[in-house]
Amino acid sequence: MDYSIESATLDKLQSDCLVVGIYENQPLDNNAKQLDALTSGLLGQLLGRGDIKGKLGETLLINHTGLAGVDRIVLLGFGDKNQLSRKSYRKAIQSLVKLLREAKLKSATAALLDIEVQAADLVWCGRQIVEVFHDGVYQYSATKKIEDKVALTRLAIAANAEQLPLASQALQQGQAIAQGVELAKNLADLPGNICTPTYLAQQAQTLAAHHPHLQCDVLEEADMQALGMGALLGVSRGSRQPAKLISLHYQGADASVKPIVLIGKGLTFDAGGISLKPGLGMDEMKYDMCGGASVLGVMRMVTELNLKLNIVGLIPASENLPDGDANKPGDILTSMAGKTIEILNTDAEGRLILCDTLTYAERFNPDVVIDMATLTGACIVALGRVPSGLFGNDDALCEDLQRASEAACDAVWRMPIWEEYQEQLKSNFADLANIGGPDGGSITAACFLANFAKDFRWAHIDIAGTAWRTGANKGATGRPVPLLSQYLINRAG
Ligand code: BES
Ligand code: MN
Ligand code: ZN
Repeated sequence: MDYSIESATLDKLQSDCLVVGIYENQPLDNNAKQLDALTSGLLGQLLGRGDIKGKLGETLLINHTGLAGVDRIVLLGFGDKNQLSRKSYRKAIQSLVKLLREAKLKSATAALLDIEVQAADLVWCGRQIVEVFHDGVYQYSATKKIEDKVALTRLAIAANAEQLPLASQALQQGQAIAQGVELAKNLADLPGNICTPTYLAQQAQTLAAHHPHLQCDVLEEADMQALGMGALLGVSRGSRQPAKLISLHYQGADASVKPIVLIGKGLTFDAGGISLKPGLGMDEMKYDMCGGASVLGVMRMVTELNLKLNIVGLIPASENLPDGDANKPGDILTSMAGKTIEILNTDAEGRLILCDTLTYAERFNPDVVIDMATLTGACIVALGRVPSGLFGNDDALCEDLQRASEAACDAVWRMPIWEEYQEQLKSNFADLANIGGPDGGSITAACFLANFAKDFRWAHIDIAGTAWRTGANKGATGRPVPLLSQYLINRAG
């Protein structure tokens, strides 16, 4: 998809399809008014006739315009002019993409920067147009012939001279985030037999090879052994694919600036191990590496924007499979931090690969550490599939993430990790048990991790319900790349 800025005015521009916004129960204004004048009152006539009312997300494709440069016009409804929220704006743009896809149009010009959104500026609006378009034209094609390929390949955003600087900033940020989301989705949608820990490591190396400020190191199982990563290696025992601990180092600021460490769970297939999962829907456990894919997506975004930050991305990558050599319930592992862990359920493996990675993160002297993981089914029970669960040991960091999440329309909901819950993780035979029983499963998982994050400001984002869609529309969402992107853009100032 090619995105550009169109700086010609409406009376001069050339377009296959020009999109303008209208409101419900409001006279035409701005771009719509101008286009109405250029078409001798066509828009007004259609509205008067009731062909479109301007309700949120309503669309009308006009196939004949009488204009020399413009072949088609799309009217896009934004509902009540005084109540256009960020979510509603995204909804309207989503229905626009749907219409353009269905009409099989190849290119369009969005003259929508005159639409005002509550609590959002022009950069936000322009950026969302790119993000929503890119999301809407995504098609998985790695292992499937696409018969109905999306025709839409070009989008121009119309901006006048005054809007131009902010519009190009929007375009730049929007493209960087959209490409990060796309990378995360592409990796996540791949099957487990292609996207193995080794494959993820290769992808990280390829990404680093393209950017001078990005460097990639991969720790092999022998390296992890030497570091004492018994928890991570315990998970990988049952798998024939070697585990990898991938690290990506981005230096965009002075070497003395403490890095932001991002950790992503990279479980490329989670069968549960000896505590085998039920068969129904088990295929979706190929998505158990979505946290890791998000780290790669965010790194891609960061390099694209050359953010003035130092960032370390860590992806513990492994499979979790049953095997004669797999770890068993009752087994005790010794983590890199020295704490022993009793495995009561081998399916609670995410926290095991993450706890050693958290300990490993200490060596980078982090400013903050943020992990992203498809950690618990219990998080979906608690919050559904709308927000990701947010946990953390630092209120300021959590508030920064909450703010970023609102701006990015990538929701999170804060959950507690109070001391009281630690009771549930007690073991008679080890320092910690790896599960905390049926109550508050997403919280006890986070509490388990908190034991390994005592030496830095830390947040944990449980993306079990948000990283992919289930059902007929099954597919990765790329979340929480938009949230993390916004957080990092805010941090870079
Ligand atoms: N990857 C799963 C969590 C998961 C399950 C995410 C379903 C999305 C959808 C994780 O490794 C897991 O299996 N967790 C267990 C923990 C339990 C054994 C305490 C779970 O949620 O059932
Ligand atoms: Mn599991
Ligand atoms: Zn898992």
